[in-house]
Amino acid sequence: MFDPVKVEGQKILITGPTGQVAAPIIDAYGPHCELHALARFSNADDEQALQAKGVHTHKIDLANGDLAALPDDFDYVIHLAVVKSGDFQYDLKANAEGSGRLLKHCRNVKGFLHCSSTAVYEYAGHEPRKEDSPLGDNHRSMFPTYSIAKIAAESVVRFVASEYSVPTIIARLSVPYGDNGGWPFYHLLMMQNGVPIDLHPEQPNVYNPIHADDYIEKIPRLLAAANPDAPTLNFGGSQPVSVEDWCAYIGELTGLQPQFKMTDSAFGSLQIDPTAMHEAIGETQVDWRDGIHRMLKALAPDSLS
Ligand SMILES: NC(=O)c1ccc[n+]([C@@H]2O[C@H](COP(=O)([O-])OP(=O)(O)OC[C@H]3O[C@@H](n4cnc5c(N)ncnc54)[C@H](OP(=O)(O)O)[C@@H]3O)[C@@H](O)[C@H]2O)c1
Repeated sequence: MFDPVKVEGQKILITGPTGQVAAPIIDAYGPHCELHALARFSNADDEQALQAKGVHTHKIDLANGDLAALPDDFDYVIHLAVVKSGDFQYDLKANAEGSGRLLKHCRNVKGFLHCSSTAVYEYAGHEPRKEDSPLGDNHRSMFPTYSIAKIAAESVVRFVASEYSVPTIIARLSVPYGDNGGWPFYHLLMMQNGVPIDLHPEQPNVYNPIHADDYIEKIPRLLAAANPDAPTLNFGGSQPVSVEDWCAYIGELTGLQPQFKMTDSAFGSLQIDPTAMHEAIGETQVDWRDGIHRMLKALAPDSLS
């Protein structure tokens, strides 16, 4: 297992800083390092809020290729930016070519974490996906460009990492969640509003939700595992949990009843095989029930019965 790299005192760039995954990382690492943040900052308030936390912001669209104004002396890059506009040309430019340009620009880093997704795997029922499992257009029904753009991004990142010898790691994230939300929180909102939750008929619909506390602890270990071969690892919670089970638990906590709608267009199970992840960075620690309970306490305390 890799020891974590030191975050303290390092110059770190985080892309996608206004997104769900980045927010808890910024709060955790920000006070201890020189944190830079890159996004389009389509919402100016988001940029000001980061600046108020002492984060250096860089207003850049990864689709347009101009990184001249971005420093190139970061110690680490945590590349989380993603766009799912539905426009293939734009999304491939931003997510795939943009990742390659960013990696090339930051080629002197000690470690570059490229955040991918388990959405790159082909649907395979209940088979836990290994890193070499077949890839496919998994999320097409809801996000038409997403899986293809994430697959393309991984390839571009591997090419640039090898071409410029940049220590890189590709992490295929499962379902991130925490006190600032995530997919299970959307399910709470759907339950509160009587909106049916899509499920694939091949039940149960199993994922590996990973709590923010765990990804905050694991990212420095992932960065330690980076090398120019750009190893690729699944990145999820060690406990597999089904949508059915986490919705039932939200029901227990709130007294709400989930309504499910069976449809082949639901993503279906995307359980990971965590073997390689455990060898590299160890098991995650937050029990999923505790994590979901904490999330409800933080975001919807009135919903708890
Ligand atoms: N959330 C999940 O359930 C989940 C699951 C698996 C994997 N992931 C992966 O985790 C990472 C973070 O996801 P997230 O859910 O936190 O994302 P998100 O909430 O959709 O946020 C996306 C971020 O990327 C920035 N961005 C979008 N287009 C950009 C562009 N063209 N140039 C520069 N920045 C751009 C956005 O800011 P602006 O709009 O201001 O530019 C925002 O900060 C992504 O790589 C995603 O694929 C997420």
